[in-house]
Amino acid sequence: MGSTNRLKLGLFGANCSSGRAVTTVPERWSGSWPDCLRLAQMADRAGIEFMLPIGRWKGYGGATDYQGATLETVTWACGLLAKTERLTVFGTVHAPLIPPLIAAKEFVTADHIGSGRFGLNLVCGWNEGEFEMFGATLRDHEARYAYAQEWLDVVKLAWSPAEDFDFAGDFFNLRGVRAKPKPYGDTRPLIMNAGASPTGQAFAVRNCDALFSTISHGISFEETARQVAKVKALARQSDREIHVYTVGVVTCRATAREAMDYYRHCIVENADWDAVDEILAMRNITRQTHSLVEFQRLRDHQANGMGGLPLVGDPDTVARELRQLAAAGLTGIAVSFVNYLDELPYFCAEVLPRLARSELREQPGAL
Ligand SMILES: Cc1cc2nc3c(=O)[nH]c(=O)nc-3n(C[C@H](O)[C@H](O)[C@H](O)COP(=O)(O)O)c2cc1C
Repeated sequence: MGSTNRLKLGLFGANCSSGRAVTTVPERWSGSWPDCLRLAQMADRAGIEFMLPIGRWKGYGGATDYQGATLETVTWACGLLAKTERLTVFGTVHAPLIPPLIAAKEFVTADHIGSGRFGLNLVCGWNEGEFEMFGATLRDHEARYAYAQEWLDVVKLAWSPAEDFDFAGDFFNLRGVRAKPKPYGDTRPLIMNAGASPTGQAFAVRNCDALFSTISHGISFEETARQVAKVKALARQSDREIHVYTVGVVTCRATAREAMDYYRHCIVENADWDAVDEILAMRNITRQTHSLVEFQRLRDHQANGMGGLPLVGDPDTVARELRQLAAAGLTGIAVSFVNYLDELPYFCAEVLPRLARSELREQPGAL
């Protein structure tokens, strides 16, 4: 992603209503196009490296129909790329829901619009209800990644200088494929994946430039560093290099007390608990399958940014925690806020200069 910053920053989930905060507070994120565009332009000016959308087709219900209104990610990326200058914008694409050659051409189009700034987040799917909407079947876990492998092989071939090619695999049988133009400037879009299982991570190591990995709340610095080192070592075994990123949820205020109060207000007192329970039930996490204590822990975690790492505190605390993530070997983090547009200016004014003083980033540009 076009910066030399040692810790890259992105914004995660802005294409969805409520973003990543499962809350009913009225200032929750709209996910509307005008708000997304203002946010992208603000992020671009500040030197934030990327925006990562969520590929979501069906809301999670609850009082807010959490993530019920979502902008399709590749068309969203095209719009944002046309109106920004430096930002990398990802499209998050469910491989099983779109033929690879259509997808490859969409990505190339987005990449040309953004002069090489489009990135692909490849997802295999994990919500059955969404697949039913398409009349598609969610394959079993291993087969999902076998399918994604062929799908991505086809996409990469379509991007390659190859003139015409055939492809014969278990899932695709293609003849005389011709795909022009090629990606912008003789490169190819960045590819990321967020597999959490060994199969998902092995897929990322084989195919992707970046793996997005969630860090469980409470996990130690040493354990995080070990996880990052393990993924990188796996990649090196195959002569590849992979960057590891994570996702975080920022509540940053002038004092620790104010930050904690706002966090509690949004994420505990006014969480959309019906939506939270719906999300957990899809993963078979219910009061019946888990002890009450564990169930409540998972509910709290889910309400706060769908399980992203909570970064709650004053600017010194948030900057310190971000420094620790960089020291653990992470290349970057995609963050979310309850309301991105309201909260990003304070983050840029207070946290980014602290990261610059630690030589993790350049000073932010004026918003
Ligand atoms: C940062 C991040 C972004 C993700 N984005 C999406 C998404 O937009 N749509 C989706 O269906 N799954 C998404 N996922 C789910 C992953 O692609 C993956 O399926 C999940 O982490 C489970 O890992 P596994 O497939 O290896 O079991 C995301 C996960 C993470 C951590």
